[in-house]
Amino acid sequence: MRERKKPEDLRSARWFAPDDLRSFGHRSRMMQLGYGEEDFANRPIIGVLNTWSELNTCHAHFRERVQDVKRGVLQAGAFAVELPSLSVDESFIKPTSMLYRNLLAIETEEMIRCHPLDGVVLMGGCDKTTPGLVMGAISAGVPMIYLPAGPMLRGNYAGKSLGSGSDAWKYWDERRAGNISDAEWLGIQGGIARSAGTCMTMGTASTMTAIADAMGLTLPGASSIPAVDSEHQRMSAACGRRIVEMVWEDLTPDQIITEGACRNAAVVAMATGCSTNAVVHLIAMARRAGINLTLDDLDALGRITPLIANVRPSGKDYLMEDFYYAGGLRALMKQMEDRLDLSVLTVTGKTMGENLQGAKVYNADVIRPLSNPVYEEGSLAVLRGNLCPGGAVIKPAACDPKFHVHQGPALVFDSYPEMKKAVDDENLDITPDHVMVLRNAGPHGGPGFPEWGMLPIPKALIKQGHRDMLRISDARMSGTSYGACVLHVAPESYIGGPLALLKTGDIVRLDLPNRRLDMLVDEGELARRRAAWVAPAPRFERGYGHIFLKHVTQADKGCDFDFLETGFGRSAGEPEIY
Ligand code: FES
Repeated sequence: MRERKKPEDLRSARWFAPDDLRSFGHRSRMMQLGYGEEDFANRPIIGVLNTWSELNTCHAHFRERVQDVKRGVLQAGAFAVELPSLSVDESFIKPTSMLYRNLLAIETEEMIRCHPLDGVVLMGGCDKTTPGLVMGAISAGVPMIYLPAGPMLRGNYAGKSLGSGSDAWKYWDERRAGNISDAEWLGIQGGIARSAGTCMTMGTASTMTAIADAMGLTLPGASSIPAVDSEHQRMSAACGRRIVEMVWEDLTPDQIITEGACRNAAVVAMATGCSTNAVVHLIAMARRAGINLTLDDLDALGRITPLIANVRPSGKDYLMEDFYYAGGLRALMKQMEDRLDLSVLTVTGKTMGENLQGAKVYNADVIRPLSNPVYEEGSLAVLRGNLCPGGAVIKPAACDPKFHVHQGPALVFDSYPEMKKAVDDENLDITPDHVMVLRNAGPHGGPGFPEWGMLPIPKALIKQGHRDMLRISDARMSGTSYGACVLHVAPESYIGGPLALLKTGDIVRLDLPNRRLDMLVDEGELARRRAAWVAPAPRFERGYGHIFLKHVTQADKGCDFDFLETGFGRSAGEPEIY
């Protein structure tokens, strides 16, 4: 039993308790808001960091949901304040939301640090919001609980269920092939996103909230609850109640985010057929907590972890709503508990093993037993070779197996517009054996590491009936994407990585069983090309983009800022109050 904090030990007491002029000012300003000392003194002050915005469709319900959180906080005898936080949405932010994950992390850390908060509820869900909020809160170090937005309802059109992203790509290819009418296309547009909530495939959002759940940062199983289910409201109020107890128990993130918790998160991510983006975010989150999780660790887990969540895009048939009805993440974790560290502590104050007690699978086709997985292995593989000495990733389960060992001539594009123009050219000189390559699409080159990695199949091949081919880039791809796409090539081409030296016509070889990706060009020729390479101008000369380019690390290190991970697991400390 942990010793409970006393009111005078609360962090917020430093702002409100002393009998001095500064604290008089703080108290009088709370009274300006209409609160008396009985509201805020001698009780935890809980910050609710809300990433709601009118342009974040995945968080559309957060405006109301925050009231449920506050209700829970009040019920537990504490005081809640809502703090609007940078709403990094996936749909509208350009050039890419990834440019702003670290900005959200900085904002989160500093908002917590500079305010009189004893604990925080983090309201996020849309892709980058989970790692951004969690990274910042790890560095801030006060008790925190993560409240996942929850997936939206399944898409529906003309009797077919539609999956976010995945079915957009699929039907877009059919439209380009001339198989879909204008009216059908409009119907799909209206039916693919039917409610508030995050993408309901096992894309980046569902992967990242599952990771937060598996790390012990959410109430057990919270990540699977659909956004518009009334259970989501009850879970939100429970988050409010629980964070107050966490403050009294002084249950800080460093006690929860341990090596065991990170490993659990990685295993669960593999078992769900995780988005490749999970690699970058999981590494970044772990490094903030002082844990050196590497690409090779993830590859090793990818080789031995069966994919048991039959949820698209890696799974065949189902979506997140089905996953919830089948028992959700608790059931999946229960199914594989002998592969997890059950002793790790979680936000409940109990161990992961205790949290999983009683969890059951209700549909063994959605959450498969380990003896009947969707794939024996293959959520994720890490490649090395002379094209990617710092690593690259591929999702073997999501690509046509005939590409697992493949050799073909490269067709190289230096920019997205150049590539887009070519793929729309019905007379493009290309064969199914070609390897399409897009470079200058990494953290520096994109800029910001955009999700361009699922390069569209050229129209010339679509018309011949081809729907997959080997593609390579230093970009990321959406978690809802699929296909034989090698991603996150590091170091990226824009800073002189070997991808910058590749020429159209060079032979590229992928050997997935041996985890190799190489260009078959001799060393002397590569040395000549390297000597002739000229570094391009930085993409930003001013503003936040300038800071980003100066400090972002490469994909294999999680793309955090170098100055934020300095000190590995340490925050900037408490502010002085004078
Ligand atoms: Fe927000 Fe996909 S756009 S989760």
